[in-house]
Amino acid sequence: MSGTAAQGPRLRPSLDGIPTYKPGKPAGADAFKLSSNENPYEPLPGVLDAVVATAGSFNRYPDMAVTELTAELAQHFGVPAEHIATGPGSVGVAQSLVLSTAGPGDEVIFAWRSFEAYPIITQIAGATPVPVPLTAAEEHDLDAMLAAITPRTRLIFVCNPNNPTGVAIHGPELERFLDAVPGDILVVVDEAYREFIRDERVPDGVELYRDRPNVCVLRTFSKAYGLAGLRVGFAIAHEPVATALRKTAIPFGVSQLAQDAAVASLRAEDALLVRVEALVAERTRVAAALAAQGWTVVDSQANFVWLRLGERTMDFAAACAAAGVIVRPFAGEGARVTIGEVAGNDLFLAAAEAFRKEL
Ligand SMILES: Cc1ncc(COP(=O)(O)O)c(C=O)c1O
Repeated sequence: MSGTAAQGPRLRPSLDGIPTYKPGKPAGADAFKLSSNENPYEPLPGVLDAVVATAGSFNRYPDMAVTELTAELAQHFGVPAEHIATGPGSVGVAQSLVLSTAGPGDEVIFAWRSFEAYPIITQIAGATPVPVPLTAAEEHDLDAMLAAITPRTRLIFVCNPNNPTGVAIHGPELERFLDAVPGDILVVVDEAYREFIRDERVPDGVELYRDRPNVCVLRTFSKAYGLAGLRVGFAIAHEPVATALRKTAIPFGVSQLAQDAAVASLRAEDALLVRVEALVAERTRVAAALAAQGWTVVDSQANFVWLRLGERTMDFAAACAAAGVIVRPFAGEGARVTIGEVAGNDLFLAAAEAFRKEL
């Protein structure tokens, strides 16, 4: 056996710099999990029925072309079916977007802090992440993002509203930005939390995509639609981006259960959006209560709130955990807290109030 063989297979050195994705901490049986921006409601009966009906044939591969869901989405958004590309969660589609546009030596720009998968999927493709700090008001610094563009830039993620801050970009600012980005750079408007937006100044990315060939929208069934565990998301993109996504996607990546659940969810949209409305009402209540406790709370248009805690972040997360609430801390920065069921939100508010009094 040669010396090199004994050391095992050689892995790409670029993997060394990749942080591993940190999922929201699992909650114990008696704790509320407010760490992963999940929908706290159980599946709607009709959606569950669709999944149960499909479950009997999981010895078969799913429909690789995702025909029914694609047709349903195309009709729903008024776009050509060829412009829809699905994947195992929108993070799977986001990874295909990076693999389709960027490789070693190329650059991918995104705001920071933002969705933590962006730097990971960029480095998996061998490309270089270019994080651009948020402003002091927790907003995307769109001017700085424009200034970060180089001849190497291939893709820009715009997370609207942003995870983990919840802050959303308004129409004129975003349009000015899109118009300033060179047409050969793909701009991905990640709208994972679109259904929770109530501020009418926030644009619908699908409208921005329509006449901009270098703009693509990312959506998911994981949040408002409550299908996080089934893994299905999609992009709406012009040709040839959508075609590239189909080439780089993992074959059969969206299970038949996920496809059928997504179709049933679209058909049950009215019932699902009633639940979303209740979560938005809870978001308003939680944000107002935090502000009344003295916290600085930025306006969240998503299903979570953000507290910038700096060095106190991990202590805050520990205090919440001790009170039975698992939040998502980003050490040295702040904590993101998902809007969950009323009892969980109340427990969180009590923990936040107690923490604040001890300061
Ligand atoms: C901004 C953003 N985009 C994409 C995703 C990915 O969600 P999924 O892969 O479940 O569709 C998330 C999940 O947290 C997110 O916050």
